[in-house]
Amino acid sequence: MDAISVIRAKRDRQELTGEQIDWIIDAYTRGVVADEQMAALAMAVYLNGMTRAEISRWTAAMIASGERMDFGALDRPTADKHSTGGVGDKITLPLAPLVAACGAAVPQLSGRGLGHTGGTLDKLESVPGWRASLSNAEMMDVLRDVGSVVCAAGEGLAPADKRLYALRDVTGTVESLPLIASSIMSKKIAEGTGALVLDVKAGSGAFMKNADDARELAATMVELGTDHGVRTVALLTDMDTPLGRTAGNALEVRESVEVLAGGGPADVVELTVALAREMLDAAGLPDADPAKALADGSAMDVWRRMITAQGGDPDAQLPRAREQHVVTAPASGVVTRLDAYAVGLAAWRLGAGRARKEDPVQAGAGVEIHARPGDHVTAGAPLLTLHTDTPDTFAYAQAALEGAWELAPAGSGFRPRPLILDRIG
Ligand code: URA
Repeated sequence: MDAISVIRAKRDRQELTGEQIDWIIDAYTRGVVADEQMAALAMAVYLNGMTRAEISRWTAAMIASGERMDFGALDRPTADKHSTGGVGDKITLPLAPLVAACGAAVPQLSGRGLGHTGGTLDKLESVPGWRASLSNAEMMDVLRDVGSVVCAAGEGLAPADKRLYALRDVTGTVESLPLIASSIMSKKIAEGTGALVLDVKAGSGAFMKNADDARELAATMVELGTDHGVRTVALLTDMDTPLGRTAGNALEVRESVEVLAGGGPADVVELTVALAREMLDAAGLPDADPAKALADGSAMDVWRRMITAQGGDPDAQLPRAREQHVVTAPASGVVTRLDAYAVGLAAWRLGAGRARKEDPVQAGAGVEIHARPGDHVTAGAPLLTLHTDTPDTFAYAQAALEGAWELAPAGSGFRPRPLILDRIG
């Protein structure tokens, strides 16, 4: 077998054989296939797609490239959530302790932000002292003692995906359904969770801009999970508008703590509770009541123990950016659109995100949203507050936000589109 024949086959729209797929993933993991060859293959897949059989074999080969974790020794069922990524998507922060408070174990292996979407680990690192890197033994200890853990995936989990994802990121091949589905599901299946709930985003701030593509991605991932014995369901959710009222690391932690305290924005609470119900159902705990666990403080209690177990101080002041700039409404009316991509781009330019993997992020940077679709504003009232330590970025952020919102006269009958668009599984 050789890389060139595999690349040619996909270039010429042929279906790859199982042997070709197993060989190329294994050879790439061992460094026998070069990055430029894998990049050419990724572009051929991007352009010509894959059949379900190819996606399934590709996923299995990526799982086999590394270790598989096993939570069988825990005394409670495991459930995990994965979001395909969006703007202001802080849901993992309240969700993991909430589901743990309801009786499941939540091993939440999470990632960092890249481009306009934020990353859960970057957000939590704004909590003074909190550590994202845990050994497998440490992760197990936190999971057993607290019920939920949020940490970086170890080097041994689906190493083929680690290399391939970094390569796709710099070769314009991220937005490919077969490559996204196999990337996400290889990590989740290797992680060993018994139940998985996918939050598949559709809209301007998501990888999948339209709901039909997102639905197909969701169906593919549900099928992959089910085939590997993981009880998998997906919610299709809106990402035309940012989630909640903040986009940025410490800003989002603050908002998540509000949700755990029984408050917070209605959309963040709605999605957190809906995903919690799905996770508990899939884990075999359908009678648990996540709304009650938010209201009675038990989810907050798990959050505090989880942060402490990972070296953080749940009572510490969260960092605040040195400079703020307020963007005001140009006229009175009702907000009918607030573009998620533009807000994500602005937060990124203010310093909340990174352009390259090794870049640092600013803990306090980001965008605070004062008016969301459906809210009434008067001329001159604050719409957004921009936060940064580097005020020279205000102009770039404001340029990103040009045309990002629309206002209509009050009484125009505008109704925001629902947050949860569909359920697959
Ligand atoms: N998240 C992943 O883990 N992989 C992708 O390909 C896209 C999003």
